[in-house]
Amino acid sequence: MLKKIEQITAEFEKDAASIENPEALENLRVKYLGRKGLVSEAFVMLGSAAKEEKPVLGQALNKMKVSFDTRYNELAKNFEKKKTGTGNIDLTLPGRRQFTGRKHPLIQVEDEVKSIFRSLGFTIEDGPEVETDYYNFEALNIPKSHPARNMQDTLYVSEEIVLRTHTSPVQIRVMEKKKPPIRMIAPGRVYRRDTPDASHSPFFHQVEGLVVGENVTFADLKGIIQAFAHRMFGKDIKVRFRPSFFPFTEPSAEYDFNCVFCRGKGCRVCKNTGWLEISGSGMVDPKVFESVGYDPEKYTGYAFGMGIDRIAMLKFGIDDIRLFFENDLRFLRQF
Ligand code: DAH
Repeated sequence: MLKKIEQITAEFEKDAASIENPEALENLRVKYLGRKGLVSEAFVMLGSAAKEEKPVLGQALNKMKVSFDTRYNELAKNFEKKKTGTGNIDLTLPGRRQFTGRKHPLIQVEDEVKSIFRSLGFTIEDGPEVETDYYNFEALNIPKSHPARNMQDTLYVSEEIVLRTHTSPVQIRVMEKKKPPIRMIAPGRVYRRDTPDASHSPFFHQVEGLVVGENVTFADLKGIIQAFAHRMFGKDIKVRFRPSFFPFTEPSAEYDFNCVFCRGKGCRVCKNTGWLEISGSGMVDPKVFESVGYDPEKYTGYAFGMGIDRIAMLKFGIDDIRLFFENDLRFLRQF
């Protein structure tokens, strides 16, 4: 009979160790501690044991019952704690996902633009976002009465101070400080008085490019823009230039890239033209050289603009510029 008690105890330990939910615990209770359970059964067997064995067997049986009870109560308490949320951790809950920080998509694109131009021998320059009327307009051959001022809806801080409407004033600041040759880009934020919609934001980002030296030609400009398009969007993307007007360049041109979605075949995004307008460019106007004290007889140069937000929208297939500025983590986590 002692053997039998040992057997039941071993079985109980094994069963108790694998209990994972309250249902299994209840089955354990019924199997061992229930009215018709193994413990009761053993007590019944005690009746038919030899008289001199009874004290020892009785003690062993009692010990078994008490240890089963204790173990059962322990397990039951654990489940109770889990249910009320005190103490133990609920291992059945899904884990909380940890997200790592990352660069904003606009910064990623700005970094890529910078690295492309750096590899083409350009320096990276910087200028203030709060700018004087002189640098933002006057020195770029946009006098007060000039109709070109209406091209850009300016946010004025005071009569002479503006939030820069483009990155072109950095051209002037750099040329005032340095002698040619100059080969620079200036990325940064610009501001316009625009009502936000899918393609307009009162602030956005541009990259200005400027190259000045002896014998710099329009062909050099075309080569650089083409090289940029290839590296940014792929070797199959062609560039085209259309005559245009900017006060600070003469001649001026707007440039287009093959549509990056249909690769020039024609689609909804490019309105079946196969082309997407990118920005403006041209040969630096002699008037601009005069305002910084460069000899226009000796030096020539080209300049170009570029919209970082626009390039990022094309690169990532984003159709609403406002998404960049809402800082919705569900959007940002995709990049
Ligand atoms: N500053 C112009 C704009 O914001 C873009 C631009 C056009 C820049 C022609 C240039 C340029 O350097 O040559 O719309």
